[in-house]
Amino acid sequence: MFLEGSIQVPPDKSISHRSIMFGAMAHGVTRVHHFLKSEDCLATLNLFKALGVTIYEEGNQLVIVGKGVSSFQPPSEAIDVGNSGTTLRLVSGLLATCCFPITLTGDASLSSRPMDRVLQPLRKMGVTSQGQGEKETLPLILQGTSCLKPIQYHLPVASAQVKSALLFAALQAEGTSLIVEKELTRNHTEEMIRLFGGDIQVTGKQIQLTGPQQLTGTTLFVPGDISSAAFFIVAGLCVPNSHIWLTNVGLSETRTGILDIVQQMGGKVQVHPHSDTDYTGDIDVQASELVGTTISGSLIPRAIDELPVIALLATQATGRTVIKDAEELKVKETNRIDATVCELKKLGADIESTEDGMIINGPTPLHGGVVNSYQDHRMAMMLKIASLLVSPKETVQIKGEDAVKVSYPEFNQDLLKIINQ
Ligand code: S3P
Repeated sequence: MFLEGSIQVPPDKSISHRSIMFGAMAHGVTRVHHFLKSEDCLATLNLFKALGVTIYEEGNQLVIVGKGVSSFQPPSEAIDVGNSGTTLRLVSGLLATCCFPITLTGDASLSSRPMDRVLQPLRKMGVTSQGQGEKETLPLILQGTSCLKPIQYHLPVASAQVKSALLFAALQAEGTSLIVEKELTRNHTEEMIRLFGGDIQVTGKQIQLTGPQQLTGTTLFVPGDISSAAFFIVAGLCVPNSHIWLTNVGLSETRTGILDIVQQMGGKVQVHPHSDTDYTGDIDVQASELVGTTISGSLIPRAIDELPVIALLATQATGRTVIKDAEELKVKETNRIDATVCELKKLGADIESTEDGMIINGPTPLHGGVVNSYQDHRMAMMLKIASLLVSPKETVQIKGEDAVKVSYPEFNQDLLKIINQ
C-alpha cells in the first residue's frame, strides 16, 4: 500500500470562525467563499443566529449581514457551543459591550477547559462573568458593559484565543489597549481587523489598538487549513513510496511550524507559494528517511495543533525526538500529551510524557490495537494515520473516530482517495 494523489484540504477552521465573528461585528454585508462547514464552525454560526444576526448561504458563499454588536438581541435560551474552544474564548471578548446576560454551555470536553485565562483580563475591562470554580469553566454567564475600558496586558500563556478575545474587546473599548504576547501565535485576528477596515499596530510581540472602531463588511476567501493538511503531510512522509500533493493551503508564517519541523527531520516537503503576496500555496510531500529532532520555544505555538501527529511522525524517525515547552497541550480538547503517549504506546511506540511535552525514540514498527480518540478530532485523525503504518494483517480500531466532524468531516473520504493497494 502507498499513498498517491492530490487533495484539496478543507477550509481553515480558525479563519472560518473569525469570518463569521468579524462579519457579525462589522457594518454591511460580508461574503465568505470556501467557509468550513464543520461542527465547530457551525457552533459559531448558530451562536450568532441565536443573537439575531442574519446569516445565509448563497450559492457557495456564506453571507453575513452585519449591523454591529449593538444590534445583537438577547437569546431566548442558553447557547450551546459544543466542542468549540475558539467559539467560546473569542466570543467572550466580542460580547464585551453586550449589556444583557448570555449563558454559554458546551460538551463535556469544553466544560472542563479553563476560561479564567480569558475572563480575568476581560473583567479588568469591565465585563461581568460567572463561571464554575477556580478555572471559571462552563456553564458561564457573561454580561458586557457600555463603559468598556481599554487594557494593558502581558499574556501569561501563548494563546491566540486569549489574544483574540482581548482584541475583539479592545476594538469596542474607549482608548488605547496594549497587548503583549508571550510567544507569537497565529495572527488571523490582527490580519482580519485590517481586512475589515480597522487599524492595529503590531511590533513584534506588542499589539496596540485604539477603540472604539467601526468595521466594514467585506468579501474573503478562506484558504485550506494547514492543521488538516498536517495529517496527510505525515502520512505521505511515513508510508513508503508515497507522493501527495496538497493544494491551496494557507501558509501564514504563524502556522507553518510543521513545515520547519519536517524539514529539520529530513522530510521531502516542497512548498509552492501561489504568489509573493498571497499566503497560500501547494505542498508536495514524498516518502522520506527521517531523523529525530528537538521541537521547542517559538516553534511550539506555530505547530501547536499538529504536535500529536508530529509525535506519530517521530515514531518513524531514526533517533530521539524531544518536544518541550508544550504544556498548553494539556488544556486542548483533551490532555494531548497524556492521550498521545497512552494511545501510541498501545500501538508499540517508544514514547514517554514529560512535564511539558514528550520524548519519542524511533524508528519503531507499529502494531494493531484498540485505541481511543477521547472524542478529540485531532487525536482521531492522528490515530487513523497511525493505522496506515501497521502491517496489512493487523488492524487499528479507533473508539470515537466520528470526532473528525469537528474540523474535517470528509477526512476519511479524502484519505480513501489517495490509498493505492
Ligand atoms: C486557535 C488557537 C489555538 C489552537 C486552536 C485554534 C484559534 O488555541 O489550538 O485550535 O483559532 O485562535 P490556543 O490559543 O488556546 O493555543
